[in-house]
Amino acid sequence: MRLCNEIAGPVLGLESSCDETAVAALAADGSILAEAVLSQSVHARYGGVVPEIAARAHLAHLPALVAQVMGEAGLDFADLGGVAASSGPGLIGGLVVGSSFAKGIALAHDLPFVAVNHLEAHALTARLPGQVEGGAPFPYLLLLLSGGHCQCVSVEAVGHYVRLGTTIDDAVGEAFDKVAKMLGLGWPGGPVLERLAASGDPGRFAFPRPLRGRPGCDFSFSGLKTAVAQVVAAYPPGPLIQRDAADIAAGFQCAVAEVMADRAVHALEAFLRRNPAGKLLVVAGGVAANQAVRAALRAAAAARGFGFAAPPLRLCGDNAVMVAWAGLERLRLGAVSPLDHAPRPRWPLEAPDMVLA
Ligand code: KG4
Ligand code: ZN
Repeated sequence: MRLCNEIAGPVLGLESSCDETAVAALAADGSILAEAVLSQSVHARYGGVVPEIAARAHLAHLPALVAQVMGEAGLDFADLGGVAASSGPGLIGGLVVGSSFAKGIALAHDLPFVAVNHLEAHALTARLPGQVEGGAPFPYLLLLLSGGHCQCVSVEAVGHYVRLGTTIDDAVGEAFDKVAKMLGLGWPGGPVLERLAASGDPGRFAFPRPLRGRPGCDFSFSGLKTAVAQVVAAYPPGPLIQRDAADIAAGFQCAVAEVMADRAVHALEAFLRRNPAGKLLVVAGGVAANQAVRAALRAAAAARGFGFAAPPLRLCGDNAVMVAWAGLERLRLGAVSPLDHAPRPRWPLEAPDMVLA
């Protein structure tokens, strides 16, 4: 493992890979100086993110958000020790906007630029100071649960990730969003579905638990989604009454949580085969905000003698604190990106250009 470099100053992070425009400034020790997240509400009327609208909105909002965060942190650009931007995976228009903005700042002020892998940013959030006592040492098992990804990852060092399992169809957040749509809830569906499920009976509908008990730690959600669609289709056309919608939401969420716990147990076994001394399970991504999912994973970890860490709710979904932190972790290892680094709409965590010596 390389020695830590001193970083010359605070790090500015930019997030624009999907529909959150976010900016954060972290001190060189990782403490948060200022942060701002703007969730683009413009997409709600389309029931999903419209990439071109998202890119234009990032362009419209980034300058003011950067000025706001720099002002709140009391910083000039010349004070910074580096600039980091989500550079993939994600929607290419937003990635181009955010990474070009960051490169512009880096070029104008002669600062190091770090092209951050958005998945790595989620993966390293647990190492932010103050999250886990002692700072989430490597290795740990990560369940990355978001709108676009659903993976079990062995996190072994910065730049060293081994995917143990993934979804064979939908991402878990996507399943939440689609079921919420069937129930006529708003978008994004996860948070509103969770609120509705709180008043529902999870036992009324017997939804399937896809892949439960099967070897390995892959996920599948399309069968569960179809089962919900069939239940909804059996009702007369028109909005469901609150009680039925709540029971369906609760049944769906309960099925997801049980599947998560089962898959986590299998993932922990695979993780321990690689890392016999490992003892921490970490969850990250938007779905990590879900309390039923958290509780199921916490119990699965405890049953195996593992600790459990989940980010505070505001750092589960997309944010720039995690981007600045991943930039800072890379800068500490001397890993700077060239200014001609091309944003990558697809950029797996295990890609060769992720690896650090
Ligand atoms: O990590 P994230 O903000 O963006 C991606 O990188 O995809 O995750 C967004 C996803 C959406 O599918 C959203 O519905 C889901 O996370 N989500 C939730 C909750 N909050 C957000 N799903 C279930 N329960 C929640 N409380
Ligand atoms: Zn994300």
